[in-house]
Amino acid sequence: MRTPIIVGNWKLNKTIREAVSLVDSLQPLVADVTDVEIVVAPVFTGLTAVAKALAGGNIRLGAQDVFWEDSGAFTGEVSPGMLKDVGCDYVIIGHSERRQYFSETNETVNRKAKAAHAHGLIPIICVGESLEERERGKTGAVVTDHVLNGIDGLTADQIVSTVIAYEPVWAIGTGHNATPNQAQEVHALIRSFLSEIYSANVASQVRIQYGGSVKPDNAAALIAQSDVDGALVGTASWEAESFAQIVKAANEAFLN
Ligand code: PGA
Repeated sequence: MRTPIIVGNWKLNKTIREAVSLVDSLQPLVADVTDVEIVVAPVFTGLTAVAKALAGGNIRLGAQDVFWEDSGAFTGEVSPGMLKDVGCDYVIIGHSERRQYFSETNETVNRKAKAAHAHGLIPIICVGESLEERERGKTGAVVTDHVLNGIDGLTADQIVSTVIAYEPVWAIGTGHNATPNQAQEVHALIRSFLSEIYSANVASQVRIQYGGSVKPDNAAALIAQSDVDGALVGTASWEAESFAQIVKAANEAFLN
């Protein structure tokens, strides 16, 4: 049985004070949730304070990006070891906004994923097609390309502790989520080629979460799909109540 994982991607939002205030409001709302992994991913400047605010609770910390080198002359970058040092367990890699605005490629995603694993961070590798690609019937090809190249060279042990986030670009921040069937179809495809590359047993352990306009009113139906193991939540995670409702929907889906 795969434990659902709900990740809040705060994107470029929240000062330190706002970030701490959000987790202070969120923690009591989800304190009794035991069957879902809950992660928040603030901006780098918020990590230290949020780590402190989360200490001893059931919410874990993630970052929104990472570089692959440990140290050196790489101005502006943050290394995997530094993320561990500040208390991160997870890191989002290859979000479509990074692919679109910051020249992230499958190759850099792969280097980052390997570096994350080398330092005991769980990578959340984002994949997904644009609207144009979907309309041209290219969804399967694009997602396959993103996943296969993103995970290239990961061992079976590493892939089992990798999270894949299927995020159709047309659903991100638009209010137009994929339907549960559309999500399930792509998630099943991803699991089927993980099964070919590794084994059915390995593929059955990999968590594949859906992202793109996940809200309290659509989360349950998405997470109820057999291959949807949680959600990567943007906008609805910037407010405690809506994020908590999504976490609870995942908890109920797991218990049913
Ligand atoms: P959204 O963002 O929930 O605002 O669509 C999702 C994401 O970018 O991860």
